[in-house]
Amino acid sequence: MKKDILILGIESSCDETSASVVKNGREVLSNVINSQIDIHTLYGGVVPEIASRCHTEVINQVVKEALKQAQITIEEIDAIACTYGPGLVGALLVGVSYAKGLAFATGKPLIGVNHIQGHIAANYITHKDLEPNFLCVMMSGGNTAIINVKDYNKCEILGKTRDDAIGEAFDKVARVVGLGYPGGPKVDALAKQGVPNIEFPKPHLENLDFSFSGIKTAVINLNHKDPNINKADLCASFQKNVTDVLVENTLKAIKQTNCKKVVLAGGVSANSYIRNAFLNLEKEGITVFMPDIKLCTDNAAMIASSGYYSYLDNNFADFTLNAVPNLKL
Ligand code: KG4
Repeated sequence: MKKDILILGIESSCDETSASVVKNGREVLSNVINSQIDIHTLYGGVVPEIASRCHTEVINQVVKEALKQAQITIEEIDAIACTYGPGLVGALLVGVSYAKGLAFATGKPLIGVNHIQGHIAANYITHKDLEPNFLCVMMSGGNTAIINVKDYNKCEILGKTRDDAIGEAFDKVARVVGLGYPGGPKVDALAKQGVPNIEFPKPHLENLDFSFSGIKTAVINLNHKDPNINKADLCASFQKNVTDVLVENTLKAIKQTNCKKVVLAGGVSANSYIRNAFLNLEKEGITVFMPDIKLCTDNAAMIASSGYYSYLDNNFADFTLNAVPNLKL
């Protein structure tokens, strides 16, 4: 019988310290997440230096708790996978250094995981039969892209944002209309009470790239011009505009690649309006997959899952592994 492979995942790229044990890339035995949201809320956004210090304070406890909840000892783990980019350099360094130290002390193989690959892998946990190839619409706090996922470890970016990531736009809009941090879920909730009755121009880019800075600035300007503007309508209109752009580009990518399997990924894929808009595409014969809500935002289970596919490819890191804040796919 084939031996089960157990990967310990470690994630610390932004404001969540997380550790997880995942079996065979798909079965989550534990997924401990220590969120720093309450601390950063005081400042209206993530403060990088505070994020690094918080990771340092809790990482040991988070990893121990993940092993305890999984009822697995470190000796039983097959490899240690950690996010090494993209993300905040100081925050990444905590997870990478911890993982390297643990790998050195235990003699376990070390795997460096690209955070974007991790977000894609969240779908392998939610959908046990999902396999590449497919089109991934990546929508997170730091990235927005349409990716042709040709195999577990082979991706091609078809289009990406030329300026802001979609999550950044959500967070900025939330801040401007007075909703605070983290903005995305708050815009999502308020938009439900509004009507998308404000027309915003859409960027017309000739390829599959995105641009969200124009809509973001338009929302800010409108809010400054009329501070009494209905905020729920403003949020609903912003959300509809960016969703339309995501869907239009996805349809263009489907036409270009002839691939009708679409997978959502990243924190913004938790957005209820965006999820519905993509589910509507199923009427047109497109199959749509999205992660469980709790796996959309940063967590170590997705890092362990992605690490499993690197493990199968014998793609291990050595102790020169370093944080790469602007790591590309
Ligand atoms: O993927 P993620 O955890 O971070 C990166 O890896 O970059 O995404 C965080 C982003 C934030 O911008 C947050 O506001 C957004 O995801 N987000 C949402 C929702 N939930 C989280 N945006 C819109 N609607 C949501 N329900």
